[in-house]
Amino acid sequence: MKAQLEKVKAEALEAIAKAESAQDLENVRVSYLGKKSPLTAVLKNMGSLTPEERPVMGALGNSVREAITNALEEAKKEIGKKELAKKLEKETIDVTLPAKKCSCGKLHPLTSIQREMEEIFLGMGFSIAEGPEVETDYYNFTALNTPEFHPARDVQDTFYITDKVLLRSQTSTTQVHAMEENKPPIRVISPGRVYRSDAVDATHSPMFHQCEGLVIDKGITMSDLKGTLLLFAKQMFGEKTEIRFRPHHFPFTEPSCEVDVSCFVCGGSGCSVCKGEGWIEILGAGMVHPNVLRMSGIDPEVYSGFAFGMGIERIVMTKFGISDMRLLYENDVRFLSQF
Ligand code: PHE
Repeated sequence: MKAQLEKVKAEALEAIAKAESAQDLENVRVSYLGKKSPLTAVLKNMGSLTPEERPVMGALGNSVREAITNALEEAKKEIGKKELAKKLEKETIDVTLPAKKCSCGKLHPLTSIQREMEEIFLGMGFSIAEGPEVETDYYNFTALNTPEFHPARDVQDTFYITDKVLLRSQTSTTQVHAMEENKPPIRVISPGRVYRSDAVDATHSPMFHQCEGLVIDKGITMSDLKGTLLLFAKQMFGEKTEIRFRPHHFPFTEPSCEVDVSCFVCGGSGCSVCKGEGWIEILGAGMVHPNVLRMSGIDPEVYSGFAFGMGIERIVMTKFGISDMRLLYENDVRFLSQF
């Protein structure tokens, strides 16, 4: 029996030495230490031994089991190390391979021009105000000196939610909010979306963007308006830019005007961008009407102010030479990535 045990031990150790993988070792463990192993079989035969032999053989059996177990443990560690090394070698990363292309998005031209406008006016001491897109007709018309049944409501027809609630047709609504919420001096701009029930074509959209401006203080005159807009135009379109005021009518400003900038492409001699005019219309403006001041709780005997409103699409389109407004809303990256 002793010889049998020694033989089992020798065979097992040899098999362990030959094992090349964790699976080989597991097989060795099952065949040499498992229930059907020769070791178990030998130890089962203990009953046939004399009482003197039994403890001696028992101890030998245990020492064989221990030797095999230890050898398995050792071999397992070694094989683990080797397998890891092999794996590391196989899975090395070639850092010289070109990386996957990562396409990086950028701001929509409407957003980038809006931010540029904000920077220019922030630099002049304006702050930015926001107003709701869903408005009452009071803020969109009545408080802007356009009472119910006034024909000027028709030229800014918009979408009505109820008789009195609508989608704002102009950012001028924010003038009223600014005057109600702040005491003069007031110096705000307010960019945002506006709506009109216009059919879609190359120059119209039922939704577009405007940027409003409002200044209220003691002694504000038309020359402040001119100076502010000239500075804006030079920063937006270039140092050589000039501006021109043409008389116009808005219900909420008096006097009112439309403002053109000299063409930044031809400098005024006439080209395709300015359609031969030399000038490009960019905004409406004027001195805030006394009725508007009064309705918003500001005494027109003490304070005066100017307001202006410009279409952001219009500025984007002239600046980038875009001839069709619809392109700005189609979200085609081939178009958008040009700017
Ligand atoms: N709200 C006017 C428009 O949409 C523009 C404007 C703003 C005119 C402020 C004068 C003063 O046409």
